[in-house]
Amino acid sequence: MSVLVTGGAGYIGSHAAIALHDSGRRVVLLDDLSNASAAAVDAVRVLTSSDIPFVEGDAADVGLVDDAMGRFGVDEVVHFAASKSVAESVNEPLAYFRNNLGSLLGVLAAMEARGIKRLVFSSSCTVYGEPEVVPVTEASPVAAVNPYGVTKLQGEQLLDVIASAGGLDVMLLRYFNPIGAHLTGSIGEDPTGTPTNLVPLLMEVAVGRRDRLQVFGGDYDTPDGSAVRDYLHVVDLAEAHVAALEALASRPGATAVNLGTGRGYSVLEVIGMAEEVMGRSIAYEIVGRRPGDAERIWADPSFASEVLGWTAQRGLREMIQDHWRWCEAHPMGFETV
Ligand SMILES: NC(=O)c1ccc[n+]([C@@H]2O[C@H](COP(=O)([O-])OP(=O)(O)OC[C@H]3O[C@@H](n4cnc5c(N)ncnc54)[C@H](O)[C@@H]3O)[C@@H](O)[C@H]2O)c1
Repeated sequence: MSVLVTGGAGYIGSHAAIALHDSGRRVVLLDDLSNASAAAVDAVRVLTSSDIPFVEGDAADVGLVDDAMGRFGVDEVVHFAASKSVAESVNEPLAYFRNNLGSLLGVLAAMEARGIKRLVFSSSCTVYGEPEVVPVTEASPVAAVNPYGVTKLQGEQLLDVIASAGGLDVMLLRYFNPIGAHLTGSIGEDPTGTPTNLVPLLMEVAVGRRDRLQVFGGDYDTPDGSAVRDYLHVVDLAEAHVAALEALASRPGATAVNLGTGRGYSVLEVIGMAEEVMGRSIAYEIVGRRPGDAERIWADPSFASEVLGWTAQRGLREMIQDHWRWCEAHPMGFETV
């Protein structure tokens, strides 16, 4: 099998590339490097001891994607390529629709031209908006509350329609909150610009790139007043993509699957675990709630276990340890010399 991984130089894509390689597949990476470094591709090659082909370019470019599929005999696709900042999407909604839907349409057009039917699509728990009931199941109401979430929901709907017409078998993987890094600490999350997620921000405080962490909201209806999320290890998440491609063989059409641990942790619990793991204190202040942030959300992961035979294996301590190993060795991300 030969799998095209769009967004393969990014945080999740680079980890998934390794898991896909380890599953015995030939992996081809495609990325426009809009939010990634070519050094990630080099690191994936080192970690897999394999000269994995890399195509630099835009997934919306049908000719480029089609050419890559032909050259490397691609027969399945994992589509990560997208812009992912909620805050940025609020300021630049059109850019988000263009990139997230444009890249999906580019990949779909090339897949159709090549007769490729198996696809795994990166969706997000953002499609559940601010859920009234937790844990969320795949049948929970969807309600995207920001432009980024709308692009994911519309992507899912588009894929569902095409799959219903028999043109595609697709897993719509709704990720919860991936953190952590490869055990070697040689690849990890390397956000360009200002991160907006808790753990990358916390790591910037730990390595001295930021004075203090802002905790958005201390008056939520949660045990300690801070917001609760379902964090999962990026390597567990990467492995779920292998399971998803394999499950497609017996599951035609479109299937939405939650990928989380089923356990929520509050922001203050994550800070506490980070302090324990790093053996140092993290300066933080509690500030007002951030508009659009859900109070609490975690997954019901039972459908993933049933359909993919996958459950997350790694706990919060391991996630923070592995994320910290990467950040400590690369305080400036892949730019670190
Ligand atoms: N990280 C999260 O918390 C999270 C949660 C839910 C869903 N997701 C989704 O998972 C996917 C991967 O996320 P990530 O955290 O690895 O982000 P990332 O930004 O690290 O990776 C995305 C990659 O896609 C590339 N890219 C963007 N637009 C492209 C285009 N048009 N053509 C080619 N390459 C393009 C970027 O350069 C980047 O390398 C995204 O679709 C994201 O929306 C991420």
